[in-house]
Amino acid sequence: MSILLETLKGNTTARPPVWFMRQAGRVLPNYLALREKYSFNELMRSPDLAAQVTLLPVDDLNVDAAILFSDILVIPQAMGMDLNFTNKGPVFENPIKNMDLPLKHFISKPQKLDYIYDVIDKIVETKPADIPLIGFCGAPMTVLTFMIQGLGSKSNFSDAVKFIFKEKKEVEKLIEKITDLSVYYAKKQIEHGVDLFQLFESNAGLIPNDLYFEMFASSVEKIADAVRETGTPFIFFPKGIGIGIERINRQFCDYVSVDWQIPIERARRLIDDSVGIQGNLDPRIVFADKKRIELELQKFVDFGRKHKNWIFNFGHGFLPKSPYENAKFIVNWIKQQDWN
Ligand code: CP3
Repeated sequence: MSILLETLKGNTTARPPVWFMRQAGRVLPNYLALREKYSFNELMRSPDLAAQVTLLPVDDLNVDAAILFSDILVIPQAMGMDLNFTNKGPVFENPIKNMDLPLKHFISKPQKLDYIYDVIDKIVETKPADIPLIGFCGAPMTVLTFMIQGLGSKSNFSDAVKFIFKEKKEVEKLIEKITDLSVYYAKKQIEHGVDLFQLFESNAGLIPNDLYFEMFASSVEKIADAVRETGTPFIFFPKGIGIGIERINRQFCDYVSVDWQIPIERARRLIDDSVGIQGNLDPRIVFADKKRIELELQKFVDFGRKHKNWIFNFGHGFLPKSPYENAKFIVNWIKQQDWN
């Protein structure tokens, strides 16, 4: 049985489960070697290669779960946006900020996501029985901010923020479209065998909390409901939400993934008791020496002994060039502690 699924079910396990956001694509020498031969696009579109990459961290890092090797930006692609995953990150040909009357440009073609279900089938066929597969998509607000801004990583999303304030009506309609397709996509992932689901709201902190909850909470709830109706555990990652974490309750998720900006004990006091926590080691700590890393990990031991509804993870994904040895050290360290 999987230690992660046991924890999500509320059963007490001997230690907290461990996995990392972005565990496949940034840290593993075996991944970087595959990237010498194939583009990101080739890797994620081939069932054999994508399944292989999905499962790499299970062997190479010894983590307790695999996360589907894909990207949150497959949804804009399936809505008709031209998107290229270049070596410098994802590039949209024509972002919303340059469009006249954006809505008419978007026609959802759910079948454009079909290749991903072939990937899931392959993973389910080849993965170890005690390793659950995590499905995911981006939360609609995060996906929309990429669609508006167009840039990949190195952007502060200023055009997207302006657009959200100025074009509220348009934003509402776009969010509805993204949400509908995401609901369909999440259900299909589950049909094909993902065991739990994480919603990435990586840009939650871009706008004021009040506006975030007013405009986007219902899109999160719709996806959460669709996933949980199937009996699949649901994790929500509202990165940058800060003190707004106190508004997270069972209506949104079973577990909330907390970023590193808030000590985990304090997050626990703020979040509704019925919601479990995932997180929240600062991903930059992997660049420190092992002694320093150990000091940081030590901070989680008391917490883990007291709180059994906790999944060890970072407060965000692995950063590029994270040292592999230290990543392995973290997993082994967590596994070797006495958690009772
Ligand atoms: O372990 C994994 O890598 C799992 C698969 C995964 C990817 N992206 C692969 C990927 C997951 C879960 C994501 C989620 C994702 N994608 C998010 C949410 C999580 C987060 O980090 O905030 C976001 C915002 C994106 C959008 C995205 N995709 C960006 C900004 C970039 C640029 C480059 C980068 O590394 O951030 C990507 C490309 C991307 N997605 C890569 C990978 C492995 C890099 C591709 C490469 O190998 O060159």
